[in-house]
Amino acid sequence: MKPVRKVVIPVAGHGTRVLPATKSIPKELLPLVDRPLIDYVVREALDAGIEHVVLVTGRGKSAIEDYFDHAFELEAGLEAKNKTELLSSVRAPIQTAGAISYTRQQSPLGLGHAVWCARDIIGDEPFAVSLPDVVIDAAPSALAQMVTVYEKTGGNIIAVEEVAQEETNKYGIVAPKADRSGRLFEMSGMVEKPAPAKAPSNLAITGRYILQPEIFGLLEKTERGTGGEIQLTDAMDALMEQQSFFAYEYEGRSHDCGSKLGWLKANSALALKRPDLGKAYRDFLAAEL
Ligand code: UTP
Repeated sequence: MKPVRKVVIPVAGHGTRVLPATKSIPKELLPLVDRPLIDYVVREALDAGIEHVVLVTGRGKSAIEDYFDHAFELEAGLEAKNKTELLSSVRAPIQTAGAISYTRQQSPLGLGHAVWCARDIIGDEPFAVSLPDVVIDAAPSALAQMVTVYEKTGGNIIAVEEVAQEETNKYGIVAPKADRSGRLFEMSGMVEKPAPAKAPSNLAITGRYILQPEIFGLLEKTERGTGGEIQLTDAMDALMEQQSFFAYEYEGRSHDCGSKLGWLKANSALALKRPDLGKAYRDFLAAEL
């Protein structure tokens, strides 16, 4: 069984749910406390032992590439002032040197199309897909947990998280093949935003996947679906007819930073946990409320 060495991180979307902020700033560079969203997902991948990160970028997204490069003037200025802590924070993203590739999606035709754009860099091996607007607070990281599971199961794995039964109509929900016990189970399908009474489970798909390369051939044939976009879920549905798919309920908590409220909640949750900010922020919130 080939190991999971590469991750595809699509960053070419327009981020319309957080407009107007994303008119001139890529959504993936919105700060979560003091690091951009993309930094969290790349670090998570490296923590999972991923060797190569493939960013699918697009028009107006070049600032993301700059984030993973040296900023010579800034670094020289910090060095001259002996600001070593800041200097190492600015240099931290450079650890991806040589391990990060960029390919472009000429227009945002959907998540499935974005993943397909990475086909030549991925080649014939299993790979992960991580959505950068889903930040998962977990140790070990959600992707690291999935890679560990993959080493036993092979096949395809979709990360899931429990949601309130009355909220299943907001998410993609997985259907277990048999009664599930434990965090890992084989799937029989997925249902997009089912009404609570019709939902096959209350486990929502949460932006982390391990997929086999056969998905690319299926993406190639996938027609535009919901919202006129080429959907990854449509191609996964087709792949499920040929290969096994597992759902894995990771240990941790996700934040949907692609929506305004989700982004605000994520900032609060992470700031409250920070030793340098938590107390002052808690005091501020208490006074505000
Ligand atoms: P989203 O659907 O959350 O991103 O896709 P979006 O389309 O940018 O956001 P909204 O819905 O308009 O607010 C998840 C990830 O997939 C990327 C996005 O950049 C985001 O990181 N994506 C989405 C692409 O790279 N290409 C696409 O065609 C669509």
